[in-house]
Amino acid sequence: MPSSAQQALPIRPYKATILETVAHNDFTIIIGETGSGKTTQVAQMLDEAGYAKEGRIAVTQPRRVAALSVARRVAEEMDTDVGADVGYSVRFEERTSSRTRIVYLTDGTLLREMLDAPELEAYSVIVLDEAHERSLNTDVLFGVLKGVVRDRKKPLKLILTSATLDAEKFSAYFFGCPVLHIPGRQYEVQIVFSEENHEKNYAAAAVDAALDMHLHQPPGDILVFLTGQAEIDRAVKQLTEAVASLPEDACSDLLILPLYAAMPLELQARVFSAPPEGCRRLIVATNIAETSITVDGVVYVVDPGVVKQKTYNPATGMETLSVTAISRVQATQRAGRAGRTRDGRCYRLYTQKYFERDMPPETLPEIQRTSMLTAVLFLKSLPLDIDVLAFDYLDHPGKSALEDALRQLYILGGIDRDGHITDLGRRMAALPVEPSVARTLIAAAELHCLPDALTVAAMLSAETIFSGNRGPQQILRGDGGKGVQDKLQEGARAALAQMLKEGQGDHILLLRLYQGWERNNFSAKWCRDMRLDTRGMSFAREVRRQLTDLVKRADFLPYRELAPDRKSSKRKRDTEGKGDTDALRRALLIGFANHLARRMAQHNGYKTLNEHSALAQLHPSTAPLHADDYGLTSEYVIYTSLVATARIFLSKVCPVDSEWVQRILPRLWDVDVKRLSGGHTTELAVERAEHAADAAAGAVRQAVSALLPR
Ligand code: CDP
Ligand code: MG
Repeated sequence: MPSSAQQALPIRPYKATILETVAHNDFTIIIGETGSGKTTQVAQMLDEAGYAKEGRIAVTQPRRVAALSVARRVAEEMDTDVGADVGYSVRFEERTSSRTRIVYLTDGTLLREMLDAPELEAYSVIVLDEAHERSLNTDVLFGVLKGVVRDRKKPLKLILTSATLDAEKFSAYFFGCPVLHIPGRQYEVQIVFSEENHEKNYAAAAVDAALDMHLHQPPGDILVFLTGQAEIDRAVKQLTEAVASLPEDACSDLLILPLYAAMPLELQARVFSAPPEGCRRLIVATNIAETSITVDGVVYVVDPGVVKQKTYNPATGMETLSVTAISRVQATQRAGRAGRTRDGRCYRLYTQKYFERDMPPETLPEIQRTSMLTAVLFLKSLPLDIDVLAFDYLDHPGKSALEDALRQLYILGGIDRDGHITDLGRRMAALPVEPSVARTLIAAAELHCLPDALTVAAMLSAETIFSGNRGPQQILRGDGGKGVQDKLQEGARAALAQMLKEGQGDHILLLRLYQGWERNNFSAKWCRDMRLDTRGMSFAREVRRQLTDLVKRADFLPYRELAPDRKSSKRKRDTEGKGDTDALRRALLIGFANHLARRMAQHNGYKTLNEHSALAQLHPSTAPLHADDYGLTSEYVIYTSLVATARIFLSKVCPVDSEWVQRILPRLWDVDVKRLSGGHTTELAVERAEHAADAAAGAVRQAVSALLPR
């Protein structure tokens, strides 16, 4: 039985309407204000109506942390444990059981499940939540699920839930499906614009505005939007110091809480529990609080008008992670957070003129600003062998982005000359890591260095390895950033110096760091001494464990312990500086053949070997590379990403031998994009025609058998 708090949510009175609409339609769109109960209640309503008898009810979330926290909340509401009637499934972590009726999963996890079960028979309903966020995976799901709903024999219901979105466009895409609007219980929000714009110092302006509100406004929690973890931690520190320096009775108690995705769940939970009596909360959050996480009690919002966003340029292969202007739709969402429980107020750190004239009206969907490599590999791996250029996207990612992805996939061997998925491509898709890392692991298995490659893959998956956003050389120098000194203790300094002396770049350094940590029994103190981020390292350890399990179970990846001569080669390494990394670096070259760069001696940099080569420098955070007698570093390197800030940088590099590169170069020069993308369209058309003919024949057979006497 839903509790009275649940019954009070705006969506509850619409239960009958929702169930009736879903019963009569394959596709349903539900639009309602954030906090109206879409994420937590819709699945429970479907469960109450018995849908789970036909298969699980899945609810997707673009973010991992949202899936975990919502599963926990709904389990509480249903008075069950997480993993029992309600569970979750996210990359590297699953908690479900045979009893599970409702499962919260990331959109990426659902996509991955489709590789093994293209029709998703285990599910009766799929709710694509946060549809307005337009994450790449959700957009891909729109397209493929449309087909599954149409073709699957056992009925499948698809529901889209969302804050404000262009209902007409979505409905048209889903065959004119019904759109339900849940009227919000939105209170008045007074908007206060700034006198001036604060592009440069928005974080400082946000801190000032929050403090000012705390000092001068009546009770009510404050929500401040900032762009990332480091920035939020800094703001929390500043706010804490500022409040501590106030006279005792200047203001009420204040509880300052950060909120971002990479935070451990226990810490996030504090945001959902009520504050002590008479205490105001000040939550400093990333965009995660814009729609996906609702914090009750917020009355004041500070909106600097920016968000951190990744943008990928397919022409150059360049990725930028930068602080970008939000759209007017987002600004409206953010302001709305202040009016959930009573009249509120939103401080915008930009002018009204900027809002009206310069702010982009809508956010560009991720599919139009990201690399399509992973998505294309996925689409190609589905049994239908989809023509990715002609695929039914809600918004087309653009020809150049798709061609870029096809080219890279071909170089990695994931598709053949005609753009068909290869056996290798299927194996790559089956691994829950990005295609280059997957290809590296497969190569490493063949080259007998899989355990080390798994370590590197796991370390690459952690967001931060070095604490304080520093590079290893900076840490060794005792440079704490921003002019602060941070000298390592002698033991740690010597250990780090020894690792850097190897001169094999970032991947090998990551391996050495992990090995060092392992030798020190995964001690947290060791991490702190080495200035490693304990959270990032623990995450890497967990990922390594999970990946290793997965690889051991996968029959296509022969897992062998490292070669027995490993110990002797360690000695060799100490004297020569190379030695036992050959196999691993070769595996990395094969995996990152799409990210190869060649040294340009006269430019003191490297030139990327892709379609539109770019001249780039090694990022200052790069681990040292061994130089020859002429002071020249390795002629070829592979890099993890090409980032453009003020200059263009190769980020995370590994030197590779020219001799190995010569062997793979022909494949790099031999890409025929026309053939990759165009060639098989006709074949697919033939296949489709055959499919249609089969279906027609089936229908005729059915009609005939219906006429026959029983
Ligand atoms: O999805 P939508 O934004 O429409 O609402 P919801 O996430 O289902 O939230 C409904 C209510 O549950 C809100 O009052 C949230 O604060 C609360 N909730 C919570 O307390 N803890 C969570 N992990 C998720 C939601
Ligand atoms: Mg929601």
